[in-house]
Amino acid sequence: MNSIQSITRGAVTSWRSQSNALRVMRLFLGVTWIYAGWDKASDPGFLTKGAPTFIGTQLAAFAQNSPIGFLLNHTIEHAALVGAFVMISEFAIGIATLLSVAPNSAAFGGFAMATGLWLSSSFHTTPYFLASDSAYAILWLAYLLLLIGNRRMPSFNIERRGAIRTGFVGAVAVIASFAGRSFPKATAASSSAKSTAKGSGKQIIKLADLKVGGTFNFTHSSQGVPAVLFRTKTGVFAYSAICTHQGCTVSYNASSKHLKCPCHGAEFDPANGAKAVAGPTQTPLAKIKVAVSGAWVVEA
Ligand code: FES
Repeated sequence: MNSIQSITRGAVTSWRSQSNALRVMRLFLGVTWIYAGWDKASDPGFLTKGAPTFIGTQLAAFAQNSPIGFLLNHTIEHAALVGAFVMISEFAIGIATLLSVAPNSAAFGGFAMATGLWLSSSFHTTPYFLASDSAYAILWLAYLLLLIGNRRMPSFNIERRGAIRTGFVGAVAVIASFAGRSFPKATAASSSAKSTAKGSGKQIIKLADLKVGGTFNFTHSSQGVPAVLFRTKTGVFAYSAICTHQGCTVSYNASSKHLKCPCHGAEFDPANGAKAVAGPTQTPLAKIKVAVSGAWVVEA
């Protein structure tokens, strides 16, 4: 109880004593890091081998183009452990930042994590300003430098009382990671699986209105996701238009014959299972089941 009171007192004092500029940075970074942890904790596939969002799949994809690919390759074997560590660290850094528990260490942790993400996943993003990881790394660094002020040597020492507070933050981070499992978010893959199990049969477009070689944008009736329908000589097929990098909406580019993401340049080849052929992701777009029923193309 004493620890909670002392953390609360310390947090209130720190918020009061900081400048508005620091408060804005601290609030944004703290909340964002907690949200990032929650996003992973509530993703049923994040620690599940074989799931499209499995951390191991992401690490393997990152390793192919990353300048620290040799390091990432070593982590793939222990992907679930690495994923759990990243998730708990994100919670801990976010909570510690908001509560001002070991603030210098938390800010340094945020900087190291954002830099690692930048080197892993968005190092080749062009132009560079489209990669949010590099912006986060700079923001954490600026925040850390402001915390350090004019001191020559930043203090990362954690005295006894600080150790108890840090332990408390760590415990809350672990509890939050487990809590996320009780609130699983719907992923494109799980939605797709549901749709596969029981298709709505909803009509999308009349077959006669979709020429061979043509495409049609629609929104899946039960999943609510934007999708692109294709008709080729051999039939019809569709893919989710949600980019597997960070969720922007892709669109079909007739000249390249690829689905392109406007956010960080990912491209997917619809003629080849919507495989990622460019950009910061290696995960293909989710398939949307469609079929021809009479004169109509329908959700299958
Ligand atoms: S959201 Fe980043 S490439 Fe699509």
